[in-house]
Order: sequence, then C-alpha cells, then structure tokens
Amino acid sequence: MVDSERAWRDALYGPAGFFTRGEVPADHFRTAPLVGPELAEALLELLDRVDAALGRPARLDFVDVGAGGGELAASVRSLASGSLAARLVVTAVDVGPARSLPGVRWARELPAPVHGLLVGHEWLDAVPCPLVTGPSDDPWLARWWPLRAGERAEVGAPRDAAWADAVGRVARGAALAVDYGHLRADRAAGRYASGTFAAYRGGRRVEPVFDGSCDLTAHVALDACAAAAGGDWVLVSQRDALGALGLVGAVDPAAADWLAAAGRASRIAELRAEGGLGSFGWLLHGVGVPVADLLPPLPPWRP
Ligand SMILES: C[S@@+](CC[C@H](N)C(=O)[O-])C[C@H]1O[C@@H](n2cnc3c(N)ncnc32)[C@H](O)[C@@H]1O
Repeated sequence: MVDSERAWRDALYGPAGFFTRGEVPADHFRTAPLVGPELAEALLELLDRVDAALGRPARLDFVDVGAGGGELAASVRSLASGSLAARLVVTAVDVGPARSLPGVRWARELPAPVHGLLVGHEWLDAVPCPLVTGPSDDPWLARWWPLRAGERAEVGAPRDAAWADAVGRVARGAALAVDYGHLRADRAAGRYASGTFAAYRGGRRVEPVFDGSCDLTAHVALDACAAAAGGDWVLVSQRDALGALGLVGAVDPAAADWLAAAGRASRIAELRAEGGLGSFGWLLHGVGVPVADLLPPLPPWRP
C-alpha cells in the first residue's frame, strides 16, 4: 500500500479515525440526504421500478452503503408504503458506530446476496486512495488519468475495487453510486491538474491533515468505477436522473399549503442545481435487470 493511502485510511478509519469515532456528515458538510426527504422519494421510485422488474418478490432489499448518520436509509424506510413496505428490508452499512433507527438494520460489512437496490451515496469519495505527483508509471493512471510532470492526481484503483465488489453483491436488481467526480477526457486535458484531494471540518474546507480531525475526500473517477464493475450501466447527472424519476419541483400555485409546496420546490431545486448537487454523477448498474427498464435514455453525464 502506498503511504498516502495508508495515512488517509488511518485518519478516517483507524482506531481514532474521523469516521470510526462516529463523526457524521451532518456536522461537517451538507449531503443530499440532509436536504430533505426528496432524494429518498426519488430512490423509492427507482426501487419501485426495480421491484417491478423483479416481479415484486417476497423480500426486497434497500442497502445504503456508507450510510453515515443513516438519514437516507431512515427516510426510505419511513416513506415506503403499501405492499413494498411489508416486503422491504432496509440495511445501513457503515464502519462508524451503529445507530438505532426504526426498521433499519445496521451492518459494518456489505451484505450479500442483495435482491433489490444497493446505493452508495457519497461513499466512494470517502474511500482512500494513493495521492501521487506526476510523472508516474502507475497502470491505473496510464489508463485513466495521464499525468504530466508536476501534476497531482488520486489513483482511483481502490474505488474501482470497492465499487466492483459492491455491484458483485447484487444478485438481482441494481446498484447506484452517487458522487462528485470527473471523466477521463477532462482529467487528460489537465482540468484537475492539482488533483481533487480536500478536507472538511465543521462545514468549512480546511488544510488536509492526517490526524483524524477532518474528513478527507477526493472526486471519484466514476467512468473507471463503471468499467471495473462492468455489465449494463449508465452514467447520468443527478439533475437528469431526478427529473426522470419524477422530481421536477414546480410549485403548484393552487396547493393548499403553498408555503410547504414552495419549501419542497426549493429543496428539489437544490438537489437538481447545475454546478451543485445536480451535477453529481449517477452511475447505475442493472444486474439481471436492464438499465433501460429503470431510467429512460438521458444525456451522458458532463461534470
Ligand atoms: C461522506 S460520508 C457519506 C454519508 C452519507 N451516505 C451521506 O451522503 O450523507 C461517507 C461514509 O462512508 C463510510 N464508509 C467508508 N468506507 C466504508 C466501508 N468500506 N464500509 C462501510 N462504510 C464505509 C464512512 O464511515 C462515512 O460514514
């Protein structure tokens, strides 16, 4: 293991690591599950499409990998209704301390086999990887992030392996990674020549230190993750995916509770904002289910 990867891993996941000791995103940065219930609503719509494609089985899994405080898993659990609610098994997976959430199982390890939908929401950006300065003869960089002398990069191989493992745990259904990231063409063109490694603490970007005092993160090479996991997949923007799942966010002027409708519309606008959460990538793999049954054709992701 390269030293920078080990330092990053120890800082987040060592005995006194940032996430090991139970720090949650809510205290340090804003993620889409913290905006409101709307992301969970959209994922329930996606889960319903998976459910239909699987023939509405007796048991349906929703697995939230890298669950943090478990907000997404808890929302999906509480919003599920009808026959789906009775058949749904919600599992939150995180290496941090287990949280007690009604109707949600907590696990430290990814389960298998999964029949349903596995989601990694802002999980892969928290998977440590080697930090390098070019030139480098690393084979992952040669394929995915050609480096000129002095340019910095993160070697995405550990994320590729983590995602391939997660997708491999889905027996039938779908796996979705949602994250900020980049594409090979932009990396090769030098758009990320300083790398994307960054640290956050208490809502602010701070100088990265490997002492467990801050979250350490880097953008995800989602195209490389897609290739590593393989199969039938699409990579689209969160903005487009949410629209295709029915989250469009217009305020109905005739709504009985106009203020509540306006609040919901503004949360949806935040989730779909270009240059913000809407520019996150949605990497969706179908396993035994064609991706075309889950999302209509959408433009390819342009971060
Ligand atoms: C950036 S946080 C995202 C939390 C949440 N999904 C959200 O979007 O608000 C990343 C989470 O992934 C967890 N994590 C990282 N590697 C993991 C692994 N191999 N297994 C389970 N959880 C992991 C961390 O402990 C952390 O809680």
